[in-house]
Amino acid sequence: MIIKNINARTILNSHADLTVEVVVKTEKGIKGMGSAPKGTSTGKHEVKNFFKNRVKTIKEFNFFLKRKLIGRHVESLKDVFMIEEALLPFGAGITLSTSYALIDALSRENDVPKWKILNPEKRFFKHKITPISKIIGGSVHSGYPQGKLILPDIQEFLVFNKARNLEKKIIINKEVHNALKEELIKNKIVSGVDYEGGWIAPISNVEAFKLLEKAVAKVKANYKEKIFIGVDIASSNFYKNERYVYYTKISEKEKQKYNTEEQYELIKTLIKKYKLKYVEDPFNEEDFMSHAKLTKKTSTMIIGDDLFVTDPERLKRGIEVKACNSIIIKPNQIGSLKKTFETIKIAKKYKYISVISHRSKETNDDTIAHIGLAQKLPFIKIGIINGERVSKLNALLRN
Ligand code: PGA
Ligand code: ZN
Repeated sequence: MIIKNINARTILNSHADLTVEVVVKTEKGIKGMGSAPKGTSTGKHEVKNFFKNRVKTIKEFNFFLKRKLIGRHVESLKDVFMIEEALLPFGAGITLSTSYALIDALSRENDVPKWKILNPEKRFFKHKITPISKIIGGSVHSGYPQGKLILPDIQEFLVFNKARNLEKKIIINKEVHNALKEELIKNKIVSGVDYEGGWIAPISNVEAFKLLEKAVAKVKANYKEKIFIGVDIASSNFYKNERYVYYTKISEKEKQKYNTEEQYELIKTLIKKYKLKYVEDPFNEEDFMSHAKLTKKTSTMIIGDDLFVTDPERLKRGIEVKACNSIIIKPNQIGSLKKTFETIKIAKKYKYISVISHRSKETNDDTIAHIGLAQKLPFIKIGIINGERVSKLNALLRN
């Protein structure tokens, strides 16, 4: 494929923030498009979306960078990786939008799904991936300042299941989402949706767990499938002055501030009490050792998101001390597809479970779903409603 023209332009993400989209045209008249998401609950060590700003980046791309790209032959993922090198100084947003646009164009020119372009071994297969879906949201994903209103401090209450096929897995997650709403109505609790389509309501952490347990039990009874509960604590957001500060009830104790040791005991209690199979970022993003201590004590998935930021170097640091047994994969955290693939490779080598994940402020781009398929990842964390989430689920269903 030869690049005939390539341009960056402005579009909106799911939060109606202005962001960038790259559109590439090939000599054969094929068009490919790509755009990258943005986080709200971003890790301290993430690569910036734009090192300058969006407007300047688009200008530089369209006036200078495109000249270097026009006429380039792009035949494989390796060529996309080479192009990424020149874009890295401009930030994750433009680098990944370009990579995703090139992959889209390659898939169209070759008339194959994107995952076949992204699969470096070029082995064609049907991979089964399990969606982990958000049911209740809280913390910064609610859009409200923490501590001002009654809301869960835990950012994400999640479910997944091991039904036979993808369609059923998706339907069961959606049924739990529906059942949760019914529970809220039954209890006369007003609700809305958070950035990722999870329910937000004026409830405590404990109430959120209880309502979710009820919703899960109801759906379990209908589907006779095991449904597992998980959480993204996203604890760095409420780690202040060496204490984890919970504004709403998190345990039976009337306690708000937890030091590291107390947080460790609390998480262990939550895992046991609610039979959690998935716990993301239970400790502050610098605290590798507490993650290691917890991982040693449980068979539950302990996932590093803000801790690892999809960075191969931070993952290696985690592996050395055995911090976590799983990792969130978000390409825009590390700013390039090449590095993302490097991180996945290391995770596989050391038997860490990789969970490819959406961000709170998404676009309709579905490349992450194809990365999950191409790399045969076991899980994808993705909301169950709203177009920008459904676009990824549909990509999975189509493939
Ligand atoms: P973000 O959060 O996309 O808002 O950064 C998602 C997460 O913490 O998993
Ligand atoms: Zn997270």
